[in-house]
Amino acid sequence: MEEIEYRPACDSDLSALTELWWHMQSSHDAYDPKFYKNIGAEKCRDLCYSYFKDLLRKEDSMIYVATSASTLVGMIVAHFRTRPPVYDVSRVVEVEVAVVDPNYRRRGVFRGLLTSVENKVKLAGVEMAELMVEHDNPDKPAYEKTGFSLRQDKMVKWF
Ligand SMILES: CC(C)(COP(=O)(O)OP(=O)(O)OC[C@H]1O[C@@H](n2cnc3c(N)ncnc32)[C@H](O)[C@@H]1OP(=O)(O)O)[C@@H](O)C(=O)NCCC(=O)NCCS
Repeated sequence: MEEIEYRPACDSDLSALTELWWHMQSSHDAYDPKFYKNIGAEKCRDLCYSYFKDLLRKEDSMIYVATSASTLVGMIVAHFRTRPPVYDVSRVVEVEVAVVDPNYRRRGVFRGLLTSVENKVKLAGVEMAELMVEHDNPDKPAYEKTGFSLRQDKMVKWF
């Protein structure tokens, strides 16, 4: 089996990052077509490309990639967040999105990406990670098996 390498993303990854993100995003229609209705593939990709490019320049955000023989096969996007100062644990990391190429799933790639994030944020004193996932996402066990557990429910109301 090919070796997987993990590293911070750079500008030359932006096209591949965008494609991987779009692969995940476009499949989310199936969960809720109204909630995930988007502005079209081309515009989504353009915005995503710029968004990721900006994140690469932000100190409070991070993108790590997994590569196999120099091909990008996984990504994770995370941000330092500050909770209200009433909490003992105020600085946390939010995993915004994680995607692994379907051909590379169930081989520990996400676990490796998450470890990259954790290693970085632990150095900054962060003790907790959080993320959102569709309640019926069939890949939710990946989060549970890497230590996440349900803490809150997100609710929406349409007008
Ligand atoms: C979620 C996702 C990133 C996980 O990536 P992955 O590289 O396959 O995950 P890993 O191989 O590191 O899995 C970690 C653990 O979870 C398990 N696991 C992963 N996917 C699973 C699934 N669908 N069902 C059951 N267990 C699963 C693995 O077997 C592994 O368990 P182990 O350590 O006990 O062996 C990947 O499935 C994916 O890209 N899904 C589509 C995108 C998506 O919906 N992302 C969430 C929205 S942000």
